[in-house]
Amino acid sequence: MTIPLLDLREQYRSIEEEILPELKELCASQHFILGEKVERFEHELAAYCGVPFACGVTSGSDALIISLMVDGIGAGDEVITSPFTFFATVGAIARVGAKPVFADVDPRTFNIDPAGIEAKITPRTKAIIPVHLFGQCADMEPILEIARKHHLTVIEDGAQAIGAECRGRRAGSFGDFGCFSFFPSKNLGGFGDGGAVTTSDPARAKKLKIFRNHGQSETYIHRFVGGNFRLDALQAAVLSVKLRRLDRWTAARQANAAEYARLFREAGVQGITLPGEGAWCTRHVYNQYTIRVADGRRDALKQFLNERGIGSSIYYPVPLHLQECFAALGGKRGDFPAAEQLAGEVLSIPIYPESTTAMRQEIVGAIAACMK
Ligand SMILES: Cc1ncc(COP(=O)(O)O)c(C=O)c1O
Repeated sequence: MTIPLLDLREQYRSIEEEILPELKELCASQHFILGEKVERFEHELAAYCGVPFACGVTSGSDALIISLMVDGIGAGDEVITSPFTFFATVGAIARVGAKPVFADVDPRTFNIDPAGIEAKITPRTKAIIPVHLFGQCADMEPILEIARKHHLTVIEDGAQAIGAECRGRRAGSFGDFGCFSFFPSKNLGGFGDGGAVTTSDPARAKKLKIFRNHGQSETYIHRFVGGNFRLDALQAAVLSVKLRRLDRWTAARQANAAEYARLFREAGVQGITLPGEGAWCTRHVYNQYTIRVADGRRDALKQFLNERGIGSSIYYPVPLHLQECFAALGGKRGDFPAAEQLAGEVLSIPIYPESTTAMRQEIVGAIAACMK
């Protein structure tokens, strides 16, 4: 049996009948930029995240950039974030001209360790970007406390964590901004690129909408330099349909994770650490199911699975402080031991909602055989 890391075709088949009329209506209207479908989706998304406002944008990367721009963060400013994340988190900081400053992660949950943040604050620090990696919220309570004490903006990178909860509250409802990605492989994925920013602050909500349209407050009147960060109506139409199914898909991901835990336990697999949930985590949405492989055996295990037709992926092999493009920041090996250890140990295996028990049995069996 060939088992891909992710297969979206079955999900599409299950919603095709709802999606096609939406697309047909859109084509008939020829209204492709912003408009009614984007506004409808923004209302639905805000309600889903438990916030009053959402603003559809071009991608998760742009969601981060526009949030930084709206709060005027740029040259001379520092922004604290995780060194163990997708590039876009840190790329956004650099793109607005600010300096990324890293605080190491908690290896059990893969997320920034709040205990390391305060030591990184300087008079130039303007914001913290906690990342809710793999579908689990960072521990937001202590992060918000630090931010309040030092008057810092909090931008949640919830690209991988739509619907995740920390102490009963949804990702995207904690910070001044919550950033989401609708890249097709995300739990809520569009038919191309897309993203959104959530906020509870009416002034920021207003500015987001101005900034996403070249800083235009009225037609051809520009109060700010913004950009073209507009979400396509086509993506909004697809996302509205998919949002209605998201809780069902999330429940399937959680059930799949629980089944992995049982199968790994029963097989008595050695040398593997299963993903941990923090005490604050009340809803993990498992965008990825990421195991850790000890003793330098990760790459061999990946190869072993690959030879058996089992898809897996390394998210992420190089921590951000060691990326060539950030060499000027002076990061070196040993600076962030937890992030560096994770980069050498992590392996994500199939968790998508439509994956089957038979697939998981085969995957766990193969891992057990390799790790014997
Ligand atoms: C943690 C994180 N941040 C930001 C992004 C950027 O989102 P997008 O690909 O929609 O630009 C991603 C997407 O992969 C992500 O995983």
